[in-house]
Amino acid sequence: MDGHKINTPMSDTNKETLLFVDDEESILEVASEFFTAKGYQILTAANGRIAADILASQKIDCCFTDINMPGMGGLELAEHIRQVDNTIPVIIMTGYPSLDNTIRTLKNGVVDFLIKPVNLNQLEVCVKRVLRERRLFIQNLFLAQEVQGKQRIEDLNRELTYKVQELNTLNRIMTDFTTIDSSVDLFEKVVDLSTELTHADEACFYVINEALKQPVPVARSVVNGNGGRQAAADRYAGLSEGRCGGGADISQLILDNCQEDKPLLIHENSHFQGLPEAIRSLMLVPLNIRKNVFGVLAVSVLKGDVRFSEKDLYYMSFMTNKAAYAIENIALYENIYENLLATLFAFVRAIEARDPYTEQHSSRVTRIAVALSRAMGCSQEEQDILNVAGQLHDIGKIGIRDDILLKPGRLTEEEFGIIKQHPVIGANIVDRLGLWDREKQIIKSHHERFDGKGYPDGLAGQEIPILARILSVADVYDAVASDRAYRKRMQECEILQIIYGGSGSQFDADVVDTFRSLYDQGLVEPVNAITS
Ligand SMILES: [Fe+2]
Repeated sequence: MDGHKINTPMSDTNKETLLFVDDEESILEVASEFFTAKGYQILTAANGRIAADILASQKIDCCFTDINMPGMGGLELAEHIRQVDNTIPVIIMTGYPSLDNTIRTLKNGVVDFLIKPVNLNQLEVCVKRVLRERRLFIQNLFLAQEVQGKQRIEDLNRELTYKVQELNTLNRIMTDFTTIDSSVDLFEKVVDLSTELTHADEACFYVINEALKQPVPVARSVVNGNGGRQAAADRYAGLSEGRCGGGADISQLILDNCQEDKPLLIHENSHFQGLPEAIRSLMLVPLNIRKNVFGVLAVSVLKGDVRFSEKDLYYMSFMTNKAAYAIENIALYENIYENLLATLFAFVRAIEARDPYTEQHSSRVTRIAVALSRAMGCSQEEQDILNVAGQLHDIGKIGIRDDILLKPGRLTEEEFGIIKQHPVIGANIVDRLGLWDREKQIIKSHHERFDGKGYPDGLAGQEIPILARILSVADVYDAVASDRAYRKRMQECEILQIIYGGSGSQFDADVVDTFRSLYDQGLVEPVNAITS
């Protein structure tokens, strides 16, 4: 407590200590004798100065002082005590009471006033009373300090809980968006999270249609009277009419205010132009993709006393920010990825169409390679990678002239050198698209040999990506099992001899073992079916 300086009320001996200050020695003697007998510890001083020295080194519970003394008088001492420890009661004893003195003593925090000659019993009653009051006073001080301490801890706890909540909320937003892989799911997640995090009645996400210059609502979350959300089918009931915000049309409000990257917070009593009557509190948060407003999130309170705060606006802005990244990623996968893949696969079909002997080669190789990878315990992600890499592994042949690619006879060394460039060309094509790093490595390495004698880099053993080692077995199997421009397909025993004989030299022995196991179980497509 500010201004209060507390000395321990008990002395070392656990006795209460009284300080008597008087220039009359007889008074000090009588008081000393009397109160010592009563079980108190007594200290005496002949004037204020000596008393102040005692106070500096001893714990005092109560001070009785004369007013007029040589050196420092009683009133000056009382003032000194008030400054040093204002819990020590000071009782003035004087033979000459005056109104002036009384007022001054009260000002100095003196708690009682005794008139000399003082009766000892009267003095004892006074001592007991002021000491009891002092104990209560100090107890109160400690209690107050304790209460203040508790208050501070509660404040800190509240602050901490608040911070933890905030982190949880932000973390929740982050993790919720990383697991979404379609834009429909994403918009629904945005509106559901909005009503959940801000206790809003309704949240609606509008995509800004550039051509129509109109916000088009694409997802809505409405909280029922019982706090639950409407079923998905009901949510879209009003969407087609373009109305959200409790049935009100806020299209113009959105168009007028969401041209920039600035979220907006409006309450009903703000006299904001265009806020429909049905809405009590509204947040409009733009979702920007590459600095353009792609869409706007509108979150509204339609009833009750909830009013959005800057904190809510912060959460919503954070969320639309994360959603924008997610949309970009999804767009890549939903559109660019699909389109690109389709285009590349078409390229491969076109290359294969140039050579009737290799038609469908990539598809067959892919099927065998994926089956091998599954049997070898590869993850779904690895199987997906192999699915793309397998389809594209010979895409580099697009750069090889027909007279070499389709040559019926044996290739010269120079021609073979040109053919050998196709893994690198293929890897470069995929690389320039900036996608599929692992697929690129597989395409580049599908002609490497386990013993290091392959091309283009002469990688050996584990240096070759496992999926490339798998693809290599499938590729060679299909190649030797098919008719080629320069030779007929081989007999089954010859084919198997090439694969099994290459175990540990051309191929990874583990992959060959898996191939053998699948082949023996009839799980590799038989040669006749392969050569169409
Ligand atoms: Fe190849």
